[in-house]
Amino acid sequence: MSTQIVNIQPLSQPVDLGVEPAKFSPQVEAEIDRHLAKYPVMRSAILPLMFIVQRERGYLDPPGVLYLANRLKVRVTDIWEVATFYSMIHTEPVGKYHIQVCKTLSCKIMGAGKVTEHCSQKLGIKVGETTADGRFTLSEVECLGSCGTAPMFQINFDYHENLTPEKIDQILDKLP
Ligand code: FES
Repeated sequence: MSTQIVNIQPLSQPVDLGVEPAKFSPQVEAEIDRHLAKYPVMRSAILPLMFIVQRERGYLDPPGVLYLANRLKVRVTDIWEVATFYSMIHTEPVGKYHIQVCKTLSCKIMGAGKVTEHCSQKLGIKVGETTADGRFTLSEVECLGSCGTAPMFQINFDYHENLTPEKIDQILDKLP
């Protein structure tokens, strides 16, 4: 039996994304500078800067990741570790309305599964998918800190609580 030697690249090695870093307007650069000035350690500004890059590019794409790594003087993997930890940072394009259904204990007990199922049926998409018109993306996420008003979901930055099928219909039908 032969032993296969696998060459695993340590994380400290530079990662080549094969793209040029994103470019932003002077106004956005100035906004980024203002955030950087608030922190004695540059990398502490990672989340505010990620939100700006996401807002400008729609999601954290490879050029955006590279821009952040260069700007914060950290490794691409440092950016990626944070980006993939937080559900509010998107590493894939999302629809105009991102529905994030909480699937953790309180919400699960109170019917999170039915909330997801109702959204899924109403919109004709599965979890992780976006409607063909680009309006809705459906995701399931961990606790959003609103356990006392379970079941709940977040649409973009707004919380919607004590959900029922009727309430979900009202919320989704009212969106412009
Ligand atoms: S368990 Fe759903 S908000 Fe905490």
